[in-house]
Amino acid sequence: MAKIIVVTSGKGGVGKTTTSAAIGTGLALRGHKTVIVDFDVGLRNLDLIMGCERRVVYDFVNVVNGEANLQQALIKDKRLENLYVLAASQTRDKDALTQEGVEKVINDLAKDFDFVLCDSPAGIEKGASLAMYFADEAIVVTNPEVSSVRDSDRMLGLLASKSRRAANGEDPIKEHLLLTRYHPERVSKGEMLGVEDVEEILAIRLLGVIPESTAVLKASNAGVPVILDDQSDAGQAYSDAVDRLLGKELPHRFLDVQKKGWMARLFGGRE
Ligand SMILES: Nc1ncnc2c1ncn2[C@@H]1O[C@H](COP(=O)(O)OP(=O)(O)OP(=O)(O)O)[C@@H](O)[C@H]1O
Ligand SMILES: [Mg+2]
Repeated sequence: MAKIIVVTSGKGGVGKTTTSAAIGTGLALRGHKTVIVDFDVGLRNLDLIMGCERRVVYDFVNVVNGEANLQQALIKDKRLENLYVLAASQTRDKDALTQEGVEKVINDLAKDFDFVLCDSPAGIEKGASLAMYFADEAIVVTNPEVSSVRDSDRMLGLLASKSRRAANGEDPIKEHLLLTRYHPERVSKGEMLGVEDVEEILAIRLLGVIPESTAVLKASNAGVPVILDDQSDAGQAYSDAVDRLLGKELPHRFLDVQKKGWMARLFGGRE
């Protein structure tokens, strides 16, 4: 049976889809058969970031409606043997997904995969609650700013109360904090919250800290999950996070302000 993991946040635009693509790819790279499911009905971003947007014929809503089966709708990644995407529908209304429909698809995927990664839409409305409902674990993506931390805190409340696990009286969803778009220089200037501040407020296990990085935009423009750019700081930070998700203990990197070398100081370099 698969482990079902939701990538969620509350506040929008914090890096959920970037994270779903990176972590899903990282799990597949380590030999785990993984499917990333886009719950963001109406927007459909995941396929762009994964670079498979031109290969979407059938999507999640088609499967829920019985217009296509999973074999028809699953898109196999061209780079990795173990990696699949189930795209969201671009045109249908937001209410196209029902709890029963989603449950059937998730249960079917769980039979065949090691990991089912659910990329949640922002907010606390239906799409987000459906994305989290069947989860065993949650990656709560948070930016180091007050509004994002506050919304993540609300999300933790929902994860604890509105899930299949909660309804069945089972062990609660295992929660992981992923701090993204971390900018050590701005933290040191007091413009952003530091890792310890966020950890103290949310009080859940820190899965990783992903630095603010130009590699992320470059990768998403190219349709390549940033974890495949193993020279990049963000790619390496995501790689560590995947290892931690699989139980490895690793120290956190990219937390401190990088000292600029004389070349970078002279020519501007990376901030
Ligand atoms: N570590 C990072 N460094 C720099 N930019 C980043 C980083 N992570 C995400 N971004 C950028 O932030 C924007 C939002 O990212 P993404 O789409 O992954 O967020 P999201 O939480 O899925 O958004 P939504 O709530 O709309 O679904 C994108 O432009 C992405 O390139
Ligand atoms: Mg998204």
